[in-house]
Amino acid sequence: PKIIFMEPDGSRRDLEVPVGTSLMQAAVQNGVEGIVGECGGSCMCATCHVLVDEAGLARLPPKSDSEDEMLEFSVGERHPGSRLGCQITVTAELDGLTVRVPG
Ligand code: FES
Repeated sequence: PKIIFMEPDGSRRDLEVPVGTSLMQAAVQNGVEGIVGECGGSCMCATCHVLVDEAGLARLPPKSDSEDEMLEFSVGERHPGSRLGCQITVTAELDGLTVRVPG
């Protein structure tokens, strides 16, 4: 499936991401600006903060409590569409999802 990352400077990155990969892993492997993934995906660092619009959110599973708590410490301001990239696993259904990396 294709996932579109909007980098903080406005550049658009279209990535072909294998099913089962997290958004954080995909971003780190492809050098997407602004996604660090410091804790390696354990929901402990919030350096994988992404913003998802309403339509996108409706396609994602709801946040877990730990994701919700960690978002309080995220890099950049928290928004209603804030999610942790490491907690979102790419599935075929997410094809075409667009996420924005906060600047
Ligand atoms: Fe650390 Fe997502 S990579 S919380």
